Amino acid sequence: MKHTVIYGFVVLALSAFFTGTALADTFEGRAKCSSCHKSQAKSWKDTAHAKAMESLKPGTRKEAKVKAKLDPEKDYTQDKDCVGCHVDGFGKKGGYTIEAAKKPLAAVGCESCHGPGKAYRGDHRKAGQAFESKGTTMQRKVLADKGQDFQFEEACSACHLNYEGSPWKGAKAPYTRSHRQLTRNTPLTLRRW
Ligand code: HEC
Ligand code: HEC
Ligand code: HEC
Ligand code: HEC
Repeated sequence: MKHTVIYGFVVLALSAFFTGTALADTFEGRAKCSSCHKSQAKSWKDTAHAKAMESLKPGTRKEAKVKAKLDPEKDYTQDKDCVGCHVDGFGKKGGYTIEAAKKPLAAVGCESCHGPGKAYRGDHRKAGQAFESKGTTMQRKVLADKGQDFQFEEACSACHLNYEGSPWKGAKAPYTRSHRQLTRNTPLTLRRW
């Protein structure tokens, strides 16, 4: 009996925890990060991630689209089966939506890898001040508890390894095998951008 009660509490506590984190995603867009991290923002601009939305426009990446049996003249920028992996936080709180598309979220931006920034961004600001006055640096655990991602594998996999038969256990439809296999077929390595 006692066990059932304790078990009940554990389940409640866990579900509160998971609902809490689900509610907590809040994407803000790369402009917020870029105002401080100017050099990273500059190098990001030259990456494929920065151009992810361009690739969904008609007339772009023609050869790759033909190979992947996609229509090179079609506009895929409003297709819900496409935008999910070509923008920040699709289907998540604060993330990109097709109906009210926001430019700072359109592309695979900072928060797609580093996590939704609303809760931890303020800590970065304080850390910058603390570093100047006291020479101290931030504690990663505090930031991780607020949603900053330091692992990356799950984030990369959700977009890059979502195909049928993938070694990534989170894979689910819509799969990307069609274009993943047939385009450049880059092996997934944790290199920066
Ligand atoms: C939100 C989805 C998403 C996430 C998260 C993501 N990527 Fe990407 N990645 C893409 C898309 C989409 C492209 C292709 C963009 C284009 O060319 O239009 C891409 C392109 C790339 C490329 C360039 C491929 C080439 O052939 O030029 C590399 C390398 C890459 N990603 C590695 C990573 C790594 C490593 C991570 C995690 C640290 C990661 N990506 C996270 C969606 C994502
Ligand atoms: C599950 C995530 C995901 C979805 C959904 C998705 N993509 Fe992608 N897309 C990627 C990734 C990851 C890459 C980078 C491919 C690579 O280099 O391995 C990419 C690359 C591309 C490229 C660039 C290919 C090249 O070689 O230049 C085009 C074009 C593209 N996607 C179009 C689309 C279209 C159109 C759709 C919808 C029909 C779509 N994508 C849906 C993840 C996705
Ligand atoms: C495709 C995933 C990805 C995207 C998009 C991305 N980053 Fe990163 N970032 C990384 C990885 C991986 C590292 C290296 C982490 C490590 O070494 O522990 C990193 C490191 C950093 C660092 C630490 C300092 C440094 O340069 O090593 C900063 C600051 C940073 N990124 C800011 C940004 C900003 C700002 C943006 C958007 C303009 C951005 N990142 C976009 C994956 C990404
Ligand atoms: C007000 C300025 C400011 C803003 C806004 C800001 N940062 Fe930072 N960020 C900093 C400073 C300062 C540091 C270094 C702090 C330290 O090491 O104590 C830092 C550190 C980082 C690091 C390295 C952390 C580590 O432990 O390796 C990453 C990654 C990063 N920021 C990403 C981002 C992302 C993504 C955003 C947007 C969601 C963002 N930052 C917004 C100022 C800022």
